[in-house]
Order: sequence, then C-alpha cells, then structure tokens
Amino acid sequence: MRLISISLALMGLLIQQSSAVTWYFLQWYTPTTSAQFQSFSMQMVAPNLQQPGVYYLWPGLQDNSLTGVYQEVLDGGSGEWWIGPGCNPSLAWGSGFNVPNQDAVQISMTRNADGINWTSNLTMGSSFVSNSFPLAYKNFNQALLAIELYDLTWDFGKLVFNNVVMVVNTTATAWCTSQTPAISIPEAY
Ligand SMILES: *[C@@H]1O[C@H](CO)[C@@H](O)[C@H](O)[C@H]1NC(C)=O
Ligand SMILES: *[C@@H]1O[C@H](CO)[C@@H](O)[C@H](O)[C@H]1NC(C)=O
Ligand SMILES: *[C@@H]1O[C@H](CO)[C@@H](O)[C@H](O)[C@H]1NC(C)=O
Repeated sequence: MRLISISLALMGLLIQQSSAVTWYFLQWYTPTTSAQFQSFSMQMVAPNLQQPGVYYLWPGLQDNSLTGVYQEVLDGGSGEWWIGPGCNPSLAWGSGFNVPNQDAVQISMTRNADGINWTSNLTMGSSFVSNSFPLAYKNFNQALLAIELYDLTWDFGKLVFNNVVMVVNTTATAWCTSQTPAISIPEAY
C-alpha cells in the first residue's frame, strides 16, 4: 500500500463533450484491475462563484465497468456553493453543506473494512457530514479531479486541490507520480 501526496492546480485539457457540457479533468488509472482504490482524500478550495449556474466541481472514483462515478460535488446552482457526496446514477444523494468562496473542505472517501460500504466524510470548520454508500463491491480503478460546466465558461479562476492522497493496494507508483496524468473522457459519470 502506498501513500502519495501531491498538490496541484487543475489546469489543463479542454474537452467538448456536447454543445452544452464542457469538461476539464485529471485522471489516474491503477496499473492493473487487481490494484484498487482503498481511499482517496484531499482538501478542495472553493473558488469564487461568479453567478448561479450548473458548475459541478468534484473529486471522484470510477469503476472498471463504468457503472457510475462516486463523487463529492461542489455545486454552484443556487448561487452559493453546496457540497455533498453521491454515486450517480444508482443511489440517493448524501447530505452536505454550503461552502463560502475560498473556504477549504477536507474530503475523504474510504472503503470500509466491512467490505460493504464506502464512506465519504466532508469537514469544513465545525461543519461535518459522513455518508456511507454500499459500493465496496465495485472495482474502483480510476480517480478523477473534474470540472463539469453546463452552458458556462470556466470563469472562477484556479480550482485548487491540496494534499491529494490516493491509497491503492499496489507497490507500483509510476501510475500516480508521473508528471502528466493520463487524460481521457470519462465514459460514465
Ligand atoms: C485489492 O483490494 C481489492 C478490494 O478493494 C481486492 O478485491 C483485490 O484482490 C486486492 N488486490 C490485491 C492485489 O491485493
Ligand atoms: C468518517 O467519519 C466517521 C464518523 O465520524 C468516522 O468514524 C470515520 O473514522 C471517519 N473516517 C475518516 C477516514 O476520517
Ligand atoms: C453501510 O451504510 C449504510 C448507510 O449509512 C448503513 O445503514 C449500514 O449500516 C452500513 N453497513 C455496515 C455493514 O456498516
């Protein structure tokens, strides 16, 4: 098991998936399908929201069968950021809280020892929510840091993730330490 900590600002590639949706993301794949995510955690800093709109900014894990991304989504729809976890499309969304511009949220996604659930913990000052989802049967072999914009442009400056930690049951490291992560379109989300 390896602990890797990196700090990055999501910059990068632009992909037009349809006329309305614009994606920007970084993506990491484990080196083999038997090497699977055990946890994924980071601090995410809310950028300055410019207007109400469908801004979805998130870290997430995707399984090798592409059955839906397990993610914590910072959502700008109300005109104030809100963050909460979910695993589109199969299970009900979890609970969350509002996030002021420039505040930092500590996010952890952890595969439980029970072999049934993954637990998402979100912490911001005295705000804390913990939500569990029965996803441990999935083979999560991809991690994503993503910006998903609907009829909007990237108008909020840098999105910063600090102390990104990926725990995968492998001793291989090149897949997560290379300077440029593999980037391609997430087939399901
Ligand atoms: C890694 O952990 C998964 C469960 O998350 C398990 O199914 C798999 O066999 C493990 N792989 C190795 C190489 O230990
Ligand atoms: C998530 O929160 C639960 C409930 O407070 C706690 O038991 C668990 O240890 C936390 N997990 C992590 C990885 O912090
Ligand atoms: C898995 O999470 C659900 C929802 O929080 C909870 O009701 C259930 O007790 C958890 N299962 C285990 C084995 O802890």
